[in-house]
Amino acid sequence: MEPSFFPIYVGKSKNIYKHPYDEKLLIMEFKDDVTAGDGAIRTIAPHKGIINARTSHFFFKLLEGKGLKTHMVEFNGNNKMIVKRLKMIPIEFIARNYAYGSLLKRLPLFKLMQPLDPPLIEFHYKDDSLHDPLITHDDIILSGLLTKGQLGKIVSITADINMILRTFLEEKGLKLVDIKLEYGFDENGEIILADEITGDGFRVVDERGNHLDKEIFRKTKDVKLLIESYMKLASILGIDLSDIK
Ligand SMILES: Nc1ncnc2c1ncn2[C@@H]1O[C@H](COP(=O)(O)OP(=O)(O)OP(=O)(O)O)[C@@H](O)[C@H]1O
Ligand SMILES: [Mg+2]
Repeated sequence: MEPSFFPIYVGKSKNIYKHPYDEKLLIMEFKDDVTAGDGAIRTIAPHKGIINARTSHFFFKLLEGKGLKTHMVEFNGNNKMIVKRLKMIPIEFIARNYAYGSLLKRLPLFKLMQPLDPPLIEFHYKDDSLHDPLITHDDIILSGLLTKGQLGKIVSITADINMILRTFLEEKGLKLVDIKLEYGFDENGEIILADEITGDGFRVVDERGNHLDKEIFRKTKDVKLLIESYMKLASILGIDLSDIK
């Protein structure tokens, strides 16, 4: 399906379009853009959009198979996915299995790749101008972002998703270091997993500690290495990319 109109939202890695005839749906286009440092560094990584669309489709399917609800409605293998239009919750839910990234900066008591047991679940308020600050459980409830019941439910879903993906990746010899998830409410007020599950939002390392995620770009700013690592993960997962080589 070709959206023949302007996007209603232009994000750093995706464009969002209205669905031509169903108000309850959106078209999410995965772009080749790659950014780092809250968008301060920005470049193009050829094929990233289609690789990420297929990777997200792969993980959403896996989670749906385990009974979790995702926003994915239709995917034809290109860089566009039809999704349910949700009222997004402006919070990033991060599950951490090993210490990395911003966690080490805010609390240097943790050592790089120190196992976190039980996994740490963090909340970040989505606002680029504030650099997506860490917020507390009580911040979320007292500010009215979510009720206590809603937050409890999302924490529990996040812990479940993290465990499912972590176990799945461990069976492939990979470690899920951390993962960022976003949720929204459907028209019935149900909590639905949204956005994407790709190397842009998780850290996954192989047995030798090589990153199969965006960390490689953050460290080297090399788009070729980024695409190679995304393709390596796709190949381990059995995602067909033979048409884009
Ligand atoms: N099912 C959905 N319904 C409505 N909006 C969605 C849905 N899934 C994801 N979104 C939103 O669509 C946008 C996707 O674009 P992208 O992720 O590129 O934005 P971004 O530049 O990272 O900015 P943001 O900080 O808002 O994520 C995000 O704002 C995301 O929250
Ligand atoms: Mg985003």
